[in-house]
Amino acid sequence: MSLLTPADLGGWRLPNRVVLAPTTRARVPGGVPGEPQAAYYAQRAGAGLIVTEGTWVSERAIGFPDVPGVYAEDQVAGWRPVTDAVHALGARIVVQLWHTGAVSHPYFLGGARPAGPSAVNPGESVHTASGRRPTVTPREMSVAEIRAVVEDYGAAAENARRAGFDGVEVAANGVYLLAQFLHPRLNRRTDAYGRCRRKLLLEVIDVVSAAGTAVGVRLSPWWTGGLFTVDESLRAEYDELVAGLDVAYLHLRGPDAGPDLGGFARYRRLFGGSLIVNNGFDRESGNAVVEAGIADAVSFSRHFVANPDLVTRFALGLPLETADPATYYGVAAMS
Ligand SMILES: Cc1cc2nc3c(=O)[nH]c(=O)nc-3n(C[C@H](O)[C@H](O)[C@H](O)COP(=O)(O)O)c2cc1C
Repeated sequence: MSLLTPADLGGWRLPNRVVLAPTTRARVPGGVPGEPQAAYYAQRAGAGLIVTEGTWVSERAIGFPDVPGVYAEDQVAGWRPVTDAVHALGARIVVQLWHTGAVSHPYFLGGARPAGPSAVNPGESVHTASGRRPTVTPREMSVAEIRAVVEDYGAAAENARRAGFDGVEVAANGVYLLAQFLHPRLNRRTDAYGRCRRKLLLEVIDVVSAAGTAVGVRLSPWWTGGLFTVDESLRAEYDELVAGLDVAYLHLRGPDAGPDLGGFARYRRLFGGSLIVNNGFDRESGNAVVEAGIADAVSFSRHFVANPDLVTRFALGLPLETADPATYYGVAAMS
């Protein structure tokens, strides 16, 4: 079974090609991870590579309830039992660094307006502990604020290294800060960060690499919904970005309709490095995409929610439990 063969990916030798996709569970009130997260990730360490849930790079990055951070010392100490447990079980673990930018909400920021690339309301909704709320029109970030964001990513990467992570993943599925800067409708700046919309992401990759951590990049070039819907101009931006990337791996979130093998194969040719693909895969389609040489590995989110022993089930051909959306998030994020 191709998914269960070892892989050289991102500079690591992985025991298999099954990746735990980043999955926010909103079960870390106070933002400091600990034994429950160590148990959660250890249960899923059959994966060759684990990408953690999105994790704040700073307090100003926050935009979702009960998500952990990696910007404070107690958070660094809290992640250590997680990375130790995963390593003891033979898997690798990277932390997904998260900054919500324009899709945060005054609710999370002491009443202040969120800041994004430009004063354009992304037209999304935000989970808060008192229900979903529509996004507001953000402030345009000053250049000094953008530099502070880059520094926050650098410091978070350094913290991640000290917490025992094998690397970090930047950008994410969806409409968060780094993707907001890439988008021509959300980034209307006329300065250097608008003339080159990739500039922020490239600076973040550089600063994270300088901290001595491996860096993977996650993009969702098929995203639909709100002002952020990916159109031809954003796709062209992604093409240029991907063709120039020199990172440990590229992690693509495919279309909602399910795997688009032709689309993934196009990015495979553009990128040339290790490629992880995602969205809607199962045992058969995951094996097929690796077998076809289109991807090096496949990540799974919902199947791993319901089947912590997913790799064993794949190996034995056992049936899978179906994930229940009512259990995705902890209580605060669901109300
Ligand atoms: C409950 C839940 C939380 C998620 N959290 C994140 C996240 O923190 N970061 C991210 O990039 N994607 C996140 N995603 C998207 C998943 O990583 C993945 O792209 C999506 O679920 C499709 O993969 P699947 O078909 O294997 O579930 C989340 C998905 C779910 C269902």
